[in-house]
Amino acid sequence: MSELPVWLVDDDPGVRESLTQWFELCDLPVRTFTGGQAALDELRAGSPCGVLISDVKMPGLDGLQLLQAVQDTDDDLPVLLMTGHGDVPMAVQAMRQGAWDFIEKPYDPERLEEQVQRALERRRLGQENRRLRQALRQGGLAARLIGEAPGMQRLRDQIANLASTRAHVLVHGETGSGKEVVARCLHEFGTGNATPFVVLNCGAIPPELVESELFGHEKGAFTGAVESRVGKLEHASGGTLFLDEIESMPLATQVKLLRALQEGEVTRLGSNHVIQVDLRVVAATKTDLLQQAARGEFREDLYYRLAIAELSIPPLRERREDLATLFLHFSRQAAEVHQRPQREADGKLLAALGRYHWPGNLRELRNAATRFTLNLDIPFLEVASGDATEGSLADQIAAFEASLLRAALSRHRGNIQAVLDELDLPRRTLNQKMQRHGLRREAFCGQDDTGKTADDPI
Ligand SMILES: Nc1ncnc2c1ncn2[C@@H]1O[C@H](COP(=O)(O)OP(=O)(O)OP(=O)(O)O)[C@@H](O)[C@H]1O
Ligand SMILES: [Mg+2]
Repeated sequence: MSELPVWLVDDDPGVRESLTQWFELCDLPVRTFTGGQAALDELRAGSPCGVLISDVKMPGLDGLQLLQAVQDTDDDLPVLLMTGHGDVPMAVQAMRQGAWDFIEKPYDPERLEEQVQRALERRRLGQENRRLRQALRQGGLAARLIGEAPGMQRLRDQIANLASTRAHVLVHGETGSGKEVVARCLHEFGTGNATPFVVLNCGAIPPELVESELFGHEKGAFTGAVESRVGKLEHASGGTLFLDEIESMPLATQVKLLRALQEGEVTRLGSNHVIQVDLRVVAATKTDLLQQAARGEFREDLYYRLAIAELSIPPLRERREDLATLFLHFSRQAAEVHQRPQREADGKLLAALGRYHWPGNLRELRNAATRFTLNLDIPFLEVASGDATEGSLADQIAAFEASLLRAALSRHRGNIQAVLDELDLPRRTLNQKMQRHGLRREAFCGQDDTGKTADDPI
């Protein structure tokens, strides 16, 4: 295979000509350049190149500088440098800088061909690997972050692009929409599972403990610090620190975190010893941090530090086209975990999934799929209502009433006062009706922002 051309950079027309002739004899396509800059510009423009051969001493960009620039642009491209006969120090330096090989002038044609063929082979392997990795990454991501809605496709592209960087990322999303999944994907498809993924939920621990959780402490640093402890920042070094509910972080801790990120170092509480850390933070929030900053509740400077890239997860109600796929996915998972046969969702159920507004997003859908698999009813879904065209008038009216009540209860997450206000009903009447239809307030409360349903087991 010889589609990828050999690029030859030399200011000497005699060398260009004789080498070109030789490569043509070997059936190798070749492109020539009189200087390094022109070759570099072409490379940056994305022109295909199988191997780059360059003279070392040239006006303008010399061979070693070109080598450096090529490595910054495309570190898979093998570079062969041509050195004068016996110029051992130069050859050594070239190899040390990452040249693939060097060619001694005057060159030996047979050996040259062999060197170039080997470099081309290596280039092909490199490109093949890169393509495979890319495909794997995209495929792997699609299996982890399910959804074909345009918003989800965009999200996966953004993740694939950001994963290999160390840029901090801020993830926005409603409750249960998949913020942690996104953070884990950024990690797994980035530095990978061999490096730490450390989670700190800033909203779940008392504010006075957030700082020592992050920075660690020495024994006796404060009352209760009976043992010294490594902080999450230190733990996460080299990997990813996932700061969940970042909006709950106390302001004083925010200042210290910002400094740690800027300097790349931490000091445990009660210690003077500075520890270097390599940090990549993925922070998640349900709120608008800039608005919070405007109210003085969040440090604007920290926001800008963290939001190098911002990812936004669309709520489930805005991507209803994914409901059926996701429901199937979660049902399969539940069937496996609970060792139950998988049930088919019928049209009625799928229609009901589409009518509901999913305030608890994917976590709530997962809960519904699990209940379905276990043959439990799904209280917040109006499965029957849309098709209540059979039975007596009284039955139909009752079914319709029940569906309205269910919808209102779910919209207000079991908040009775809000339901009373919306439907303009006296409390006693609502109580009676709920009893008649077998509706329990608690069944609608579990979808609250704070009342998270446990994820595992499903
Ligand atoms: N795109 C997706 N494909 C498949 N499963 C998903 C997807 N997004 C989320 N999930 C699943 O949905 C559940 C909720 O996701 P996750 O815990 O990441 O949400 P969250 O935004 O962090 O929630 P919270 O706001 O409560 O912290 C998890 O069980 C997760 O595995
Ligand atoms: Mg979460």
